[in-house]
Order: sequence, then C-alpha cells, then structure tokens
Amino acid sequence: MRAVVRDSYGSPDVLELREIEKPDLADDGVLVRVRAASVNPAEWYSLTGTPYVGRVQMGLFKPKQQELGVDFAGTVEAVGRDVTQFRPGDEVFGGRTGAFAEYVCVRNTVVQKPASLTFEQAAAVPVAALTALQGLRDKGQLQPGQRVLINGASGGVGTFAVQIAKVLGADVTGVCSTRNVDLVRSLGADHVIDYTREDFTRSDRRYDLMLDIAGSRSWSACTRVLSPQATLVIVGAPKGNRLIGPLSHVVKLRLAALRSSRKVVFFIAKFNQPDMEVLRELLEAGKVTPVIDRRYELSDIADALRYMGEGHAQAKIVITV
Ligand SMILES: NC(=O)c1ccc[n+]([C@@H]2O[C@H](COP(=O)([O-])OP(=O)(O)OC[C@H]3O[C@@H](n4cnc5c(N)ncnc54)[C@H](OP(=O)(O)O)[C@@H]3O)[C@@H](O)[C@H]2O)c1
Repeated sequence: MRAVVRDSYGSPDVLELREIEKPDLADDGVLVRVRAASVNPAEWYSLTGTPYVGRVQMGLFKPKQQELGVDFAGTVEAVGRDVTQFRPGDEVFGGRTGAFAEYVCVRNTVVQKPASLTFEQAAAVPVAALTALQGLRDKGQLQPGQRVLINGASGGVGTFAVQIAKVLGADVTGVCSTRNVDLVRSLGADHVIDYTREDFTRSDRRYDLMLDIAGSRSWSACTRVLSPQATLVIVGAPKGNRLIGPLSHVVKLRLAALRSSRKVVFFIAKFNQPDMEVLRELLEAGKVTPVIDRRYELSDIADALRYMGEGHAQAKIVITV
C-alpha cells in the first residue's frame, strides 16, 4: 500500500509517499481502507522532532515511527475473528498512528461514521473534537449557564470547542482574528472578540472557564477576566524554543497560578471509545458540524503540513486518500 513515511526528522521535504507492507489484521483489529485523514499540530512536532525533549519518546536521533497521521475515516475492509461490532463495508472514523496511508489496522479507537457526514468531514473530527470535549467537560467541568472564553476559536480544536460549549449550555465567547469572526459567530458563539482590534483581557466580562488553545497571553493578563473560582484549561501554546517548546508556556502559567484561587489545568487528550461515541451522537444529531479549511491529496502532504506549520489554519486541514 502507499503511505507517507520519513526516515529522519526535518521539514516537510523529508516526507515520501512510499510502498510499504499493508498492516496485518490482529484478531481484535479492524482493517480500514482510509478514504480521508486530517492534520493536527502534533504531526508538525513529530515531523520536525521538536521540541527536543519529546525525542525521549519519539526517538533520539531519528524517529522510531516512520509513519505519520492519526485522524482517519474510511471503509472497513476486514475484521479480526474477535470483532463483532463491525463488518466489512461499514463506514467508520477514528484514530491510529499511520493514518496518512491507504490502510490502517485499529483496535478500540474507531466508531461508525454518521451517514450524514462525508469521509472528509468525519476525518476532521477525532483529535480536535476529543480535545475540545475533554477540555470543556472533564478538565473544565463546564456547567450550563457558565461563561466560557475560548482563546483560539477558529482553529481545529476551537471550531469544535465553540459548538460543544454551546451543547453543554454555556455562554460562549470566542477569540479569533478579523477574517474568522463570521465563522466563529456562525458556529454559535454568543460573543466574538477580534484579537487584532480588541484585548480580551481588558473586557468587563468575567469568565468561569477559559479554554486556552492559542496560549497567547500571560497569567497576569488572563486573571483580569477570570472570576475568582475560574479554571484555565491549557490546550495549546506557541511553539516556543526547540528544547522544551510549548511546555515553557505551560510551566510559566502553572507556576504563576500557584497561589491563586483560580485553577490552571494542562492536559493531553486521550482516545477512548465512549468519547468517540459521544462525538458520533453529536454529529449525527447535527449539533456539531466539522469545518474544513483546505483539502490536499495524499501526494501533497508536504504542502498540507507546511500550511499547518504556519499556525493560521481556519478549522481543519483534510487529506483525501
Ligand atoms: N492538549 C492537547 O491534547 C491538544 C490536542 C490538539 C491540539 N493541541 C494544541 O492546541 C493548539 C491548537 O491546535 P489546533 O488543532 O486548533 O491548531 P490550528 O487548527 O492550527 O489552529 C490555529 C488557529 O489558531 C488561531 N490563532 C493563532 N494565533 C492566535 C491568537 N493570538 N489568538 C487567538 N487565536 C489565534 C489561528 O487563527 P488566526 O489565523 O485568526 O490567528 C488559527 O485559526 C496547538 O498548540 C496544538 O498543539 C493540544
């Protein structure tokens, strides 16, 4: 099968579309013919091998894992002998390392695709929507009627976060740049702040929860708009230095918040079947709709990652396979 692979860390130029072995079907596995995949910032870090601290896990001098990509949607080609939940021909979506390929073999990180969604839409969902869901519901404990500020509302995570926060019954403020104001409003945000014209930390409004996807502001600035018992959930941060990268922002915020009545939480989203089912239901009910910015062919993956690396994607970047 054809798959996107790399032998070393580097720029998107190191990526090659190569013939590799089709994955073996495990007894508890589902072999999926990938029809679409989507790109997340994690692939940029994995591609470049930065920050260097991440190489302890990714491989010190060269990547342990040649394949890239996680989010996929496709058709079940075959199922292992222990699998009863899926049949060949089922349309599914989920997450598995190596998704920038014609086939993936997954175990328990895959669910049925709602018929109303295209493969491209479904592939846009997993990592970004799971992050939004777990950040708001679990880490942020968002309750109906609470005020939530989503800083970075126009990207992959942000466009899902705005919609999921509305489903959870919150009063939602989204922060984005001028060109994305209409998009964020169309997703259901009650208030939209254009960060190029207005400083959200100078507003009179107070928030119970801030989902910080952009990581663009200091703790002292954020506290101006956080209510005394508020929680700030750190989802993302600027790329930072090559040694510890975005972690420097996380450490700074957590240290600064040590003596505060407000809470700072950082987390890494985790794949799990129940949350994938929650997302499937929200998509099926039309309560959450994926937004796609650009589409690329598998052979143009380097361009897709270059665009992702610029940090200004409007919602999701999708790869058609
Ligand atoms: N913790 C986790 O488990 C987890 C999971 C997924 C992603 N992440 C992290 O979350 C971050 C975002 O991921 P993503 O998939 O949403 O990325 P993305 O799709 O590339 O999002 C980029 C968006 O950020 C916006 N943005 C840039 N600077 C901003 C600023 N100063 N204020 C407000 N918005 C700004 C951009 O809008 P403009 O073009 O308008 O500036 C763009 O829409 C990344 O750092 C990623 O590593 C973390």
